[in-house]
Amino acid sequence: MGDHQIRATRGPLRWLTTTSHKDIGTMYLWLSFSMFILGGAFAMIIRAELYQPGMQLIEPEFFNQMTTMHGLVMVFGAIMPAFVGLANWMIPLMIGAPNVALPRMNNLSFWILPPTFLLLMSTLLMPGGAPSADWSLVAPSSAGNAVTSLTYFVLSVHLLGLSSIMGSINIIATVIKLRAPGMTFMKMPLFVWTWFITAFLLIVVMPVLAGAVTMVLMDVRFGTSFFPAAGGSDPLLFQHVFWFFGHPEVYIVILPAFGVISQIIPTFSRKPLFGYDSMVYATAAIAFLSFIVWVHHVYTVGGTVAQDLFFMYATLLIAIPAGVQVFNWVATMWRGALTFETPMMFALGFMVLFTIGGFSGLMLSSAPVNFQYHDSYFVVAHFHYVMVAGAIFSLTAAVYYWLPKWCGRMYNEKLGQLHFWVAFIGFNMTFLPQHFVGLAGMPRRIPDYALQFTDFNMLSSVGSFIYAASQVLFLYNVVATIVAGKPTTEEKVWEGAQGLEWTLPTPSPHDTFETPPLMK
Ligand code: CU
Repeated sequence: MGDHQIRATRGPLRWLTTTSHKDIGTMYLWLSFSMFILGGAFAMIIRAELYQPGMQLIEPEFFNQMTTMHGLVMVFGAIMPAFVGLANWMIPLMIGAPNVALPRMNNLSFWILPPTFLLLMSTLLMPGGAPSADWSLVAPSSAGNAVTSLTYFVLSVHLLGLSSIMGSINIIATVIKLRAPGMTFMKMPLFVWTWFITAFLLIVVMPVLAGAVTMVLMDVRFGTSFFPAAGGSDPLLFQHVFWFFGHPEVYIVILPAFGVISQIIPTFSRKPLFGYDSMVYATAAIAFLSFIVWVHHVYTVGGTVAQDLFFMYATLLIAIPAGVQVFNWVATMWRGALTFETPMMFALGFMVLFTIGGFSGLMLSSAPVNFQYHDSYFVVAHFHYVMVAGAIFSLTAAVYYWLPKWCGRMYNEKLGQLHFWVAFIGFNMTFLPQHFVGLAGMPRRIPDYALQFTDFNMLSSVGSFIYAASQVLFLYNVVATIVAGKPTTEEKVWEGAQGLEWTLPTPSPHDTFETPPLMK
């Protein structure tokens, strides 16, 4: 009863006014997929230019705008809204709630996004183009020649932050207030736990980002001197403020991924998750540590040795809770009755490749060697193993895992397996060689390179086109499933599925858990 009944509106207005967590979850997922295609198109432009040394296709200034927009669109447009979409769909189903706690605010936090992304994209057409200082907005050069667009750019970052904060408040309120009787905190599924913790991270760091970009705006427009050295300030201040936001942001996109994997591995192992309690504590520990490691992004700017050492040890510590998670997944599979459907394949791909990204992260966290790797392609390879093989693989796994429950139709398994292998090969072909050119000294964010890097860059570009092609398979498979997939009415779509959401009818009806279920 209550707000969610507004969904009865019919026609196109239904999507504008809906307060159903399922409608809003679906819209989030489609929006994020469109932004994923857009951010991917920017990456294709970058890789096409880097296919050969020399300048072929685009101007260096435009290349820089592409790296900026690619990063921003992928982080704020593709990955974060996708996880919010999954949270919308799944958290109420997993805790036995009829809807999220604040359905109208949920509608608002979604509908802020499409116009905001249009605003962000429109900066590309403004005089001087979009800001071209990478997604980390390296302060002294933030404006570049793009003073006009910077204003709108900052506004769009504020709006994105607003949407994230509202989404987080909603998730926290839902988890605290709407759990079914008997659903204690320590019975919540891991996906709910990881999102609950992530929501707190978001609420803490989004205002920090907003403050940082506001100060940049004041410097550029109103002549303040928060960052410029000429005005007596320290340009490093910006880097510290930005990365105080930026590092926890990395965990904001990866903790829900851990949650997804912790749902999928037990299902296809036909065993309960191994080490549930330690998973919860490990997630909380990672969240806490993420606040005290940001200086590992700026080792090379000339801090004290004591400072670099503190942040190096703090960063290394994260390997412990992250290792606990990986060991628990392996222990869950140990002697399980394993099967390898598409969601499980992507989950296993996640485990292997994310672990590689974790290890290259350990290498980077070491202050002395970081002086060698800093701003090289090794860093690019590292964070794409975390962001793509980590976040995007887990999102793909989640869609294949829950899609049959959402729409009551089964996807094409053969096509799913093909999608996995094309994505897996394309991904590794793109990013594995970037480790090698990085170690050999190729700098990032430069549209041209020395001749000796040519072979690996060609391989990388061809790999990126293959990875892009795999997304066409994904889109086709999802649309074909929704339109004409084999109907399924099994409550448990997967034999080993565990949890409240699998006690509901398939396809998931519009209104669920109007009367809260009773947990044992
Ligand atoms: Cu970091």
